Amino acid sequence: MSSQDAFETLAIHAGQEPDALTGAVVPPIYQVSTFKQDGVGGLRGGYEYARTANPTRTSLEQCLAALEAGPAALAFASGMAAEDCLLRTACSPGDHVLIPDDAYGGTYRLFARVLAGWGISHEVVPMSDIAAVRERLAARPVRMVWTETPTNPLLNIADIRALARAAHEAGAMLVVDNTFASPYLQQPLTLGADAVVHSTTKYLGGHSDVIGGALVVADPRLAEAIDFNRNATGGVPGPFDAWLTLRGVKTLAVRMERHSRNAMRVAQMLAEHPAVAEVLYPGLPTHPGHKTAQEQMRAFGGIVSFRLLAGEEAAVRACGRTRLFTLGESLGGVESLIEHPGRMTHASVAGSELEVPGDVVRLSVGIEDCDDLLDDLRQALAD
Ligand SMILES: Cc1ncc(COP(=O)(O)O)c(C=O)c1O
Repeated sequence: MSSQDAFETLAIHAGQEPDALTGAVVPPIYQVSTFKQDGVGGLRGGYEYARTANPTRTSLEQCLAALEAGPAALAFASGMAAEDCLLRTACSPGDHVLIPDDAYGGTYRLFARVLAGWGISHEVVPMSDIAAVRERLAARPVRMVWTETPTNPLLNIADIRALARAAHEAGAMLVVDNTFASPYLQQPLTLGADAVVHSTTKYLGGHSDVIGGALVVADPRLAEAIDFNRNATGGVPGPFDAWLTLRGVKTLAVRMERHSRNAMRVAQMLAEHPAVAEVLYPGLPTHPGHKTAQEQMRAFGGIVSFRLLAGEEAAVRACGRTRLFTLGESLGGVESLIEHPGRMTHASVAGSELEVPGDVVRLSVGIEDCDDLLDDLRQALAD
């Protein structure tokens, strides 16, 4: 595969040469734990034991590296396993990390309830406010700036280029959780980030049928260190999960176009709806991060959050009244989902600086017919 190839071509071909033995046009599922050695240490293609490496996983990793324009990608059993491995490889006890004031609840829980106990401290900073970030970077040594953009679930936008500059001037590295945008909409490494995190469970997999995670890093030495720790700690995906994810990746570009188009129409409808107090979607010109999003993203993605005028009980009620939007956690699949972050995906941040207002509803807008989706939301919000 040539690095000159366009994104859509890389998604279908990078790491996915037809099988040398049989010509199979998609990578086989190497459902195997160990590999015959030709004499002690005589490995075929470098494979010895599937925690260390598996050819199906290698295909996925080569494809993800190409899509994020990075030198190396590493696949994990989940997004959280990827985050944990990155943090425990790049940080040491005593290190300090700046984290965003809106983020996936599980990420906050990892910092606050797990890593804090191992000596990695964190502090919450609004990443869309670059002056606030610079002030915190000047106040004390910081090892890492961690951001999501757009954030989960409030869809805040951080300026990746500006954050990378600020982090690097202070001697810190910048990590971007790119789960909401996917590499089709945004490539953080090309904007100066040092590492990209994915829950491949979401848009990369795209069909709500597999849990997975990935890291793509700019420095090959960091990739090697992560690979060492992943093998040492074992949070790897199985071959079938790697294969399912890779199958999803092939259609990422067309799915993201459609998700974004549907989400924009949903956001526009909600912005006019009398029951809605505010729509949080970076594609709306009224969104404070709209201009930055326009500069660093190809389109604005499939997640739309909104706040109900009538408050929390109305938000919970709306979540239970849809016909096509399925009430459930997660996001990024072809089918539309609805959820109440405060009581579901973000219950773990209740009482923290990241607590999500109770009147917020989050939609993962799928790729169904958009008129059907709009009708469903209108009836769910009717008196
Ligand atoms: C932005 C973001 N990052 C990371 C994760 C964690 O990924 P996983 O559930 O695959 O462990 C999630 C899960 O919802 C997420 O939304």
